[in-house]
This record gives sequence, structure tokens and C-alpha cells, in this order.
Amino acid sequence: MPARLGVNVDHVATLRQSRRTQYPDPVAAAVLAEMGGADQITIHLREDRRHIQERDLQVMRKTVSTRLNLEMAATQDMVKIAYEVKPDVATLVPERREELTTEGGLDVVGGRESVRKVVKTLRDAEIEVSLFIDPDLDQVKAAHRAEAQTIELHTGRYCDARLASDRRKELSRIIDACKAASKLGLAVAAGHGLNYSNVIPVAAIPEIEELNIGHSIVARAVLVGFERAVREMKALLREARP
Ligand code: PXP
Repeated sequence: MPARLGVNVDHVATLRQSRRTQYPDPVAAAVLAEMGGADQITIHLREDRRHIQERDLQVMRKTVSTRLNLEMAATQDMVKIAYEVKPDVATLVPERREELTTEGGLDVVGGRESVRKVVKTLRDAEIEVSLFIDPDLDQVKAAHRAEAQTIELHTGRYCDARLASDRRKELSRIIDACKAASKLGLAVAAGHGLNYSNVIPVAAIPEIEELNIGHSIVARAVLVGFERAVREMKALLREARP
């Protein structure tokens, strides 16, 4: 069984916000992504609202027919929004205003009690909780203790590695984290920086149930169209685990 594909449509909204127009609409991109085979739509409502807006989240809650995964900071404001909109999954991510994109995973070891509280609040509302963490065994164990159902492993260091030896090392950290998580009964997702040339070794890891991919698909969609961009990524996931 290939990994499920969560398509992150944030950067369609980035293009829209760059001119404060009404287009391109990430809601339309989500529909086309599902037509291309996306198993989930992922969006990050950032504190600075630089791309996705509350309206997008509200409309997508009504239009997404697969699963809606809301990436969010573990703040009271965001928990309130999640409670109102009820995404299928909430992925807790660290957030700094000045960062270009999510840099590094959530520190569940350091912030254990506060993370645990947010996990409980969301789970009480029947929202599945995933924690976006670095592929680090202590973080995996802390995510389990915080009672999250899923972890999403940050693949950024693997994707950014320039030397083949560094890339292999990063891949084996991901594999070790997957095995540890799976032993603890956690579901495993992964994402960040994955593209059409680096996805196969990650998609081949049997423990990984889901990949969340955004920037590379949106970038390709600009050239070849959304449906085809998603279809091509789905074909790679199938190729990784025939
Ligand atoms: N998963 C998480 C938790 C993320 O924060 C992001 C970026 O928003 C992604 C996956 C997708 O990353 P990329 O856009 O690099 O594919």
C-alpha cells in the first residue's frame, strides 16, 4: 500500500496574498488536488495570516471531501479556531513570525506539559492530533507521552542535505524514528521539502502512512496544472512501494 498523499495548498494562497486578489483560490486548488488523487488537504493557518485566511479554512471545511488537516501553532487562539471549525486532523507545528517556512520540529521534550494539554483539549473535541517533530528518538517518546495519535517527521534536513553521505545519514534517522514510533503505536506521517526528485526513498519507508507535500506540487502545478501535478506525485508513491 502506498503512503497517502496530503496536498498542502498554502502556496496557492501565497500567490493570491501577494496581490491581495481573490485568485488563485486555494479552495479551487483543493478540489483539483482531490481530482488528482489527493487523500488529504493540508493547510497552515499562520498567526500572521501570510497565506491561508480563516475564510479558506471555513470554506474548505465544507468543500474538502477527503480529510482536512489543519497545521497550527499550539496557542489558545488557534485551539479556539480548531474547536469551531473541527478539522479532521490538527498538526501542531512550531511557529516563528520571521521564518520563511516551518524551520525544525516542535520541541515536545521541552514543552511537554503545555503540549500535552493542547493535545488533550483537541482530542476531547474528537480532532485527531499529530505532532510535527524532528526525527529524534527523544521527541518520538515525548510525543507518545503527550498522547498524540500521530507524529509527522520533519524531512527538511534530509531534503536539504547536499552530500549523498549526509542524505543517507538523515534518511536513516528518519527510518529509526519511524520504527520507534511504530513500536509505540503511533501513526507516522512525514513531510517538508519533499519534491519530485527526493520523495521516493522516504515514500518507500513502510511505516510512513502519509506524506504532506506542498511547495513542490504547487510549483509544478503552475507549469503543468494541479490535477496532473498531483497525479505525477501519486505515481511516484506507488512506484516506491509497488
Ligand atoms: N508538513 C508540515 C507540518 C509543514 O509545516 C509543511 C510546510 O507548511 C509541509 C508538511 C509541507 O512542506 P513543503 O511545502 O516543503 O512540501
